[in-house]
Amino acid sequence: MVNLHHTQNRMSHCSVRLSTLVCREGLAGSEDAVIRQTGRFDVISLRLVTRAVYRNHYDKINHSDHEMPAKKWDKKNNVASGKRVNQEVKPASRVAVVTGGAMGIGAEVVERLARIGHHVVIADRDEAASAAMVARLQSQQLSVMAIPIDVSDSVQIATAFGVISNTLGRCDILVNCAGVAKVFPFVDFPLEEFERTMNINVTGTLLCSQHAARQMMHHQWGRIINIASVAGMRAVGTGRTAYGTSKGAVIALTRQMAVELAEYGITANAVAPGPVDTPMTQLLHTAQFRTEYSKAIPMNRYGTVSEIGAAVQFLASDDAAYITGIAMPVDGGFLSSGARGL
Ligand SMILES: NC(=O)c1ccc[n+]([C@@H]2O[C@H](COP(=O)([O-])OP(=O)(O)OC[C@H]3O[C@@H](n4cnc5c(N)ncnc54)[C@H](O)[C@@H]3O)[C@@H](O)[C@H]2O)c1
Repeated sequence: MVNLHHTQNRMSHCSVRLSTLVCREGLAGSEDAVIRQTGRFDVISLRLVTRAVYRNHYDKINHSDHEMPAKKWDKKNNVASGKRVNQEVKPASRVAVVTGGAMGIGAEVVERLARIGHHVVIADRDEAASAAMVARLQSQQLSVMAIPIDVSDSVQIATAFGVISNTLGRCDILVNCAGVAKVFPFVDFPLEEFERTMNINVTGTLLCSQHAARQMMHHQWGRIINIASVAGMRAVGTGRTAYGTSKGAVIALTRQMAVELAEYGITANAVAPGPVDTPMTQLLHTAQFRTEYSKAIPMNRYGTVSEIGAAVQFLASDDAAYITGIAMPVDGGFLSSGARGL
């Protein structure tokens, strides 16, 4: 059993030996190799291994333009023949990847999953915010690490999931939370903004889920949770041409994944939050918009990151084993509501 909690001294001693190991073994610096060489495996070691392996991978990609090949899933050998691998994944050793985990809703999800014992990877393009999260949570002995990633870049996604596979050996839970929103009137919506939003919110979700699902299939267990929005189910005021369309697509994508991944023990669900106070909405929502939006919600208020995180945590758990393909609104009743003043 891997012990994740060692003293700081033992960690730094281990780190030196690990750096040597990584340089010597390159991408073969897997969890097993680390334990073999050092007799232990912990978050700081992991961070060092990951940083070195990531650099190695990234250099290769930058120099050769070569995308890492995905592992092939042999459905015939592993499912049809009944040779299922490791169906009993112990909750305490699960690896969770949270895109957009450096702030807002994603940061809450990271903290919740880490507090219940998962090893959590923050996959975010904001390196400074990710590093601050890692430092804060590691100081509380939680198992978190950061891998910088821009989910609009297919090469960076392949690299990051390659690193996760090589260092942690698995990805059991994926939360696709990275997302952006910009508002423009429909008739003037700039094409480049539409494409950028779709790339991050939809294509990023698709690609991360493909990479994660390939790893989950090996273990016949997985949870994919996509953060959609009520704007994917209903027009929320004006200006959300790209955002609303992207979140509608995320919900459709979730259903498709659910159907195709169910036989591998993988569920795929979406959470559709109503408005929540985060760095995103602090920029996007004017005071007048806030007042009007709150009035349209039966509970008369914005949600909290904790209320969204709780739904994600549930869908990521064993208790949600028979739920797949849904889009769960967490919206204070907004979607149920019509003309409230009547
Ligand atoms: N806040 C809300 O009211 C609300 C409501 C419904 C849905 N959502 C959705 O929840 C998710 C999180 O929203 P939030 O309000 O916490 O946003 P936020 O802006 O506060 O945080 C988003 C995080 O995603 C990261 N990110 C953005 N683009 C990225 C990219 N290309 N690659 C990697 N990381 C990237 C950012 O660095 C940031 O850490 C989004 O998908 C959003 O659409 C938010």
